[in-house]
Amino acid sequence: MKLVKVKNYEELSAFAAEKILEKVRSSNRVSLGLATGGTPVRTYELLIDDFKKRKTSYQHVHTYNLDEYVGIAADAQTSYQYYMFEHLFNHIDIPKENVHLPNGTAENILQETQRYEDAIDKLKGVDLQLLGIGENGHIGFNEPGTPFDRTTHVTELEESTREANSRYFNSLDEVPTHAITMGIATILKSKEIVLLASGEKKAEALYQMFNGEISNNCPASVLRNHPNVIVVADEQAASKLE
Ligand code: F6R
Repeated sequence: MKLVKVKNYEELSAFAAEKILEKVRSSNRVSLGLATGGTPVRTYELLIDDFKKRKTSYQHVHTYNLDEYVGIAADAQTSYQYYMFEHLFNHIDIPKENVHLPNGTAENILQETQRYEDAIDKLKGVDLQLLGIGENGHIGFNEPGTPFDRTTHVTELEESTREANSRYFNSLDEVPTHAITMGIATILKSKEIVLLASGEKKAEALYQMFNGEISNNCPASVLRNHPNVIVVADEQAASKLE
């Protein structure tokens, strides 16, 4: 696991956007694993800036998001699908049919998790997976205690995760209790992983990720077992690291 320390959120976002652009330009078929949440917002803005200025095309790019809430319709403003179109897809030339997220309102949710896993498995994992990290060390919505061999599955969100995400809803009550998430095993199939951590709220999770034992108490610690991971941390997130 390689650590790249940067000064602040802006530098972190510039690093991540450059990594994604390098990948997008590297081949005529590219798969990207994408994250939602606060951390990648600026990265996506920089991709949009690049698209406006340099017209980097995404016609050959296929995206697979980490997760989606269960019970939120795709077109609702709080869905992760809505977030992705708002923050990125509406502003670049990616074909709609190349965009993949789990369907949180599928009639048969177990079948849906299998469908999503099979699609990623067919690729033998995505080419580049972008990750954030939860304050409790979660990646995707794999909360502490999730076995490392889980593939895409339905997970119950921790109270602290629901609270952290309640900023996107009118009240905590509205935050779903469950989500479909790529599992740790799905994430580990990725050929390359870039994890972004910004702000002092992430400092303890980052400390555990690097220095704690590799255990599902801190799901992100499993990334130490993957051969191609870059962790990009700003000064505040890296403040507990050597
Ligand atoms: C989002 C996701 C989550 C977030 C994490 C950090 O798709 O899977 O693991 O990356 O909760 O969220 P922020 O960036 O809002 O601090």
